[in-house]
Amino acid sequence: MVKVGIIGGSGLEDPNILHEPKLVSVLTPYGAPSDDLLEGTINGVECVLLARHGRKHDIMPGNVNYRANLWALYSRGVDVIIASTACGSLQEHVEPGHLLFPDSVFDRTNGRASSFFDGSNPGAPGVCHIQGHPTYNEKLRQVLISTAERCQLVHHRTGFGVCIEGPRFSTRTESNVFRSWGASLVNMTMMPECILAKELGIPYATTALVTDYDCWKEEEQVTASSVMQVFAANVEKAKKLFVEAVGEIGKVDWSDEIRKMKKQARESLMISPD
Ligand code: ADE
Repeated sequence: MVKVGIIGGSGLEDPNILHEPKLVSVLTPYGAPSDDLLEGTINGVECVLLARHGRKHDIMPGNVNYRANLWALYSRGVDVIIASTACGSLQEHVEPGHLLFPDSVFDRTNGRASSFFDGSNPGAPGVCHIQGHPTYNEKLRQVLISTAERCQLVHHRTGFGVCIEGPRFSTRTESNVFRSWGASLVNMTMMPECILAKELGIPYATTALVTDYDCWKEEEQVTASSVMQVFAANVEKAKKLFVEAVGEIGKVDWSDEIRKMKKQARESLMISPD
């Protein structure tokens, strides 16, 4: 039976969605994850939940220990990971309150530890040149999309996000440049989570919950409190999506997909012969 990891972004710190939740404290070779893990079941499927910014939301995007978070889920034996992330919209038709299932990401972060294979962990020897494409697991992405469809949640099936370093929001010039690149979203946490999951060979897909129009529109100006307000107003959608998606994930055989991703991760490693 599949075990599902869930990484909850801003506003999904403690979603009361787990049946019989148990707190599990984990320390990894990369340090401590953002918080204790919450383990339980959803729709009869085993799940491990982690609040990306900590349950008190006191870790800023650039300080999240993404490696420890992913390793912690890996060490608890999760087979697939679904995540949520609050995002600003860079396109008129992608409205606050909508969901978008990204198919790629443009990385504008700097200095984040984005590989397990940096020589610090004897359990991760060598150098890993993981492929950036496909960024997200397509089979998992399709489960999220079909679940959103079934739940009648307004959503967009494709689009990419620009992940900025933050914690500041973008200038209008930056926002307009990102728009000119064709990006649908801007956010601060899409990287390097998806890449670290690939290094571990774990299928991963994310759900963007659109909270604002960033600052490119004349009459709009994103603020931290407006993001949290819109998220709070829409958090039930994300919870519903995750509860239903976990049920669907539980019905699918993931063994081929996992084998494929583990093989890709293995083949990305360069290890010295001696
Ligand atoms: N998260 C939510 N809205 C955002 C925005 N406009 N820019 C960056 N991250 C965000």
